[in-house]
Amino acid sequence: AVERTLSIIKPDAVAKNVIGEILTRFEKAGLSVVAAKMVQLSEREAGGFYAEHQARPFFKDLVSFMTSGPVVVQVLEGEGAIAKNRELMGATNPKDAAPGTIRADFAVSIDENAVHGSDSEASAAREIAYFFAATEVCARIR
Ligand code: CMP
Repeated sequence: AVERTLSIIKPDAVAKNVIGEILTRFEKAGLSVVAAKMVQLSEREAGGFYAEHQARPFFKDLVSFMTSGPVVVQVLEGEGAIAKNRELMGATNPKDAAPGTIRADFAVSIDENAVHGSDSEASAAREIAYFFAATEVCARIR
């Protein structure tokens, strides 16, 4: 089925100047950008986005990293977009990420791991709505 998923290019990847290279990987894999913006997240925005991790020991570091510089937030659309994006990203910890994945190629640690992607249909719906009004998500031109 055609799905939408929320993708974030994190501060480490933005600082490395690889926004274009990462978006190209999505496009070459058949995913289309249907909404996008560059933003500097506040602590409140980053904390709210990662609310499910609030009790985890890494939460404070996660919020501090995600607010350390601008991020690029986008909605990707395509066949099986949620799983496809997770395949392209590779494992959360770049040390475990398969060769050729975004995290293997651009990330240095589990904290600074280049990209975020929704992990399920339910989180995709919540995460897209967290960053974009329905009117900001465009229909893909086919
Ligand atoms: P992300 O997919 O954005 O979701 C939560 C983030 O927390 C994750 O990527 C990692 O960058 C970060 N993180 C740090 N430590 C851990 C951990 N032990 N398990 C999962 N995520 C972690």
